Order: sequence, then C-alpha cells, then structure tokens
Amino acid sequence: MPVTTIERFILDQQRTYPQATGVFTNLLYDIALAAKIIARETTHAGLVDILGKVGQMNVQGEEQMKLDVFANQVMVRANSYTGRLAVMASEEMEDIVCVPEESQGPYVLVFDPLDGSSNIDVNVSIGTIFGIYRRVTQEGPGEMVDCLQPGRNLLAAGYIIYGSSTMMVYSTGNGVHGFTLEPSLGEFLLSHPSIHVPDPPKYYSANQSYERYWSEGVVRFTRWLQGIDGEEPCPTLSGRYIGSLVADFHRNLLKGGIFYYPADQRSNSGKMRLLYEAAPLTFLAEQAGGLGSDGRQSILDIVPSSLHQRTPLFIGNRNLVEKARHFLEKYDG
Ligand code: AHG
Ligand code: MN
Ligand code: MN
Repeated sequence: MPVTTIERFILDQQRTYPQATGVFTNLLYDIALAAKIIARETTHAGLVDILGKVGQMNVQGEEQMKLDVFANQVMVRANSYTGRLAVMASEEMEDIVCVPEESQGPYVLVFDPLDGSSNIDVNVSIGTIFGIYRRVTQEGPGEMVDCLQPGRNLLAAGYIIYGSSTMMVYSTGNGVHGFTLEPSLGEFLLSHPSIHVPDPPKYYSANQSYERYWSEGVVRFTRWLQGIDGEEPCPTLSGRYIGSLVADFHRNLLKGGIFYYPADQRSNSGKMRLLYEAAPLTFLAEQAGGLGSDGRQSILDIVPSSLHQRTPLFIGNRNLVEKARHFLEKYDG
C-alpha cells in the first residue's frame, strides 16, 4: 500500500468537491493535530502527573480525570481560533462552547474528548469521538440550535483510539477510512482504507452485570446472541466488553459484532450520550454497512433536545441490530 498521510488523503478527497474552500479540510487537519497532542499524553500517562482524578465532577455527575480535562482543553484550543467553527459542544462542558467573534466559521464540532475514562488508570484503550455539522443559523455566534441537529445532518464523524497503536478512523460520507499514527514521523498513515463491517460477526459486547435491570426483550436478545434462545440460530459469538465505547466499537468495526447499552430499570434512556457518542459512531457504522439504533429507530433520526441527552444504543452488524429491534418489539411491546 503506498504511504498516504491523512493530510494527503483528505486533500485528495477535497478535490472531488470543486466548490470546496478548504475550510472543512483544515478542520479535519486540526482534529488530527489535536489527536496527536492527546496521544502524546496518553502514551506516557503513567509517567507524568496526568493520571488520577481532578477532584471535581463534570456535568455528567462523573469524577473528572486529569486526562478528561486535558483532552477537552486540547480539543477546545485547537479549534477556537481557526475560523472553521461557529460553535462547539463537549461532553465535559455543560453549555455550548462559543468561538471568538473574529474566529467564526461555518461548521459545528461536537465531541467526547476522552471516552472510556474509567480505563485511563489501568492502561486500557480509550478514545476521542467527534462529529461535524454545518451551522444552521446564518451569522453571528453559533447557538444551541446549531448543536442540536440529528445525526442525519452530520457531514463527517470519527474517532481516535489510543491503544496498542493510535488510530484515527473517520468518514465524510464516502466510506470509512483508518489511519495509524507513526510516532517517529508524527504522521497518521492510511492503514485501513474503506472499512466494511465483516459478516459473519465475531463478538457481542454488553455489560451483563446490569442484566437484572434489563427488559425481557433485551434478556431474550442476549440469550439469542449466546445461542440459547429458541429462535433461528445466531452466528457463534464471543463476549467482549472493554468499558470504552470507542474500543468496543472499533473491535466490532474491524471484526464484526454488536455493542449494546440498553435502557434499563435504572434509566430508561440508557447511558450513552446521543450527540457526541451514539450519533457520530452510528454515522460511521452506516458508512461501513452496519446500523445504530436505540432499539426502535435509527440513532440518526433522533433530534436532540439537550446537549447531554442520553439514549439506549445497539450498534454494529445490520442483522444483529435489526434482530435486537425484533426482540424488543416482540417482548417489550
Ligand atoms: P466516558 O468515559 O466518556 O464517560 O464514556 C464511558 C462510557 C463508554 O465509553 C463505555 O462504553 C461505558 O461508559 C461503560 O459504562 P459502564 O461502566 O456502565 O459499563
Ligand atoms: Mn464517552
Ligand atoms: Mn468522555
């Protein structure tokens, strides 16, 4: 495979849009740069004072880790003065993140700066998730309405996974492409062009410690995945649950499988955040031949009513996500 940097790849893709101004291209560059800065901190997190808790709670009511705060600062700073964005929204910030008047642009960036925070201190893969929209307001500072768009409006989405290697995986609607960071060059190099979810799938991924809270439909779906329920057989799957959505999603994208975090008796809206976790990853899943659903409808059709709104999530191979909907309709009504 020829050596193709992410910048070269993005520029080549821009050429297919004659009217492109380069602002969108440069926004993707900015995100790749932020990813490299975050990656540098995560790969030696054990050696510098970046581990552990900050001693404060975020808007999610969760203990903020130093790396959560660091990654959020990097994403905000890398995108505040570039002239690409009208407004941002971050998992770590309660309200929208305004962009200085003199630096505004036509796009909106939503992101989870560090996904899988509970795994930081135990050296398990974590990630960053992002989505890009075009602003819907005409001028002036971006507003909340610019952020509360359904996933169908996404222009691009992607994630970075900080694991055994650092990878950036993204789509602008023309397939899903993966780039691996070559640290000695400081470059993301094309390593996984045109990713498609393999079929038959290999894994199912859910936190079964919560099974006692699940609906009958979700329990029956899980038994089917395990080859126990009476309906027609499911491909033989292995269970894997990392506790970092990005890592579980990435494994299923490359090997085939389903991740699900359903609604349960504790919370009928599940745990995943719609705007900056479920929607961007569903955009990728659909581009790779898969699906993302809340158990009833596509994640991309849900119009957010608040920045940090949660949603049940079933995401991965098309046939597995559709089967989940079948069980929820049949047993949960
Ligand atoms: P974040 O670290 O951004 O808050 O996300 C954590 C999420 C997701 O990454 C993971 O799949 C899920 O929380 C794990 O939740 P449980 O620990 O309840 O299984
Ligand atoms: Mn997250
Ligand atoms: Mn997070």
